[in-house]
Amino acid sequence: MKLYCVGCGPGDPELLTVKAVNLIKSAEVIFAPTAREGKPSIALSVVERYIDKSAKTTSLVFPMVKDKESLKDYWKRNAGEIADAVRAGKMVVYLTVGDPALYSTWIYIQRELGHSHPDIEVEIVPGVTSLFAIANKARISLAEADETVAIVPACYDLERVKKAASACDTVILLKDGRYFDSVIDILGQAGFPDDASISIAQDISVPESEILEQSTLAEQRGKKGPAEKYFAIMVAKKHARR
Ligand SMILES: C[S@@+](CC[C@H](N)C(=O)[O-])C[C@H]1O[C@@H](n2cnc3c(N)ncnc32)[C@H](O)[C@@H]1O
Repeated sequence: MKLYCVGCGPGDPELLTVKAVNLIKSAEVIFAPTAREGKPSIALSVVERYIDKSAKTTSLVFPMVKDKESLKDYWKRNAGEIADAVRAGKMVVYLTVGDPALYSTWIYIQRELGHSHPDIEVEIVPGVTSLFAIANKARISLAEADETVAIVPACYDLERVKKAASACDTVILLKDGRYFDSVIDILGQAGFPDDASISIAQDISVPESEILEQSTLAEQRGKKGPAEKYFAIMVAKKHARR
């Protein structure tokens, strides 16, 4: 009775591990997260070409709200549905974009299974995360030598962004490009110099996507809306080392 959680990478169907592809090909039941009823799951769309015609696919709703209490019912229901499929003897795969260990719905399922369905064994297959996809497209390193890195969500507390930026050489901002304007302002206050390097991308590694911005902090200041999507990522490097 085993459930496989598979990291589907950042969007390019060729950026999956061989193990991920093999598991998806042999899955009889596939679950994937979506933000609301009827909205296509991004993870499912990335791996569509590998799914067997006879496999049953189900999108599970994880609403995009910050209040964890209101989400608990969804986690419980979704984990229950997955556990039922595994107990029915099916080969079951849960998909998640990027890697399951980074801001993924997977962790809520894993915890809920541990609490309420401890008979279900899990195996997790890592995926290429959006951090590495942007570094690769922008041809930058996220860290070198003794540099430190912070990974921070942009859509919560900007004071925490400031603290992380004060303490680290590289700051990687996820979760919502619509907040990147405010982050740019904060970086200067946190000691990032005018020539700090800024890379911004959205829908990275989806065909035709490109780096949106690759410039300095000074050039970014005052620019409105460098990214407008939730699926956007920014890397700010204090020492540009050009
Ligand atoms: C819920 S988190 C999931 C992160 C994912 N597990 C990973 O490893 O990249 C969603 C955030 O990840 C970033 N993200 C994930 N995939 C992306 C992509 N293809 N292009 C740009 N940003 C992406 C965005 O910052 C987005 O708001």
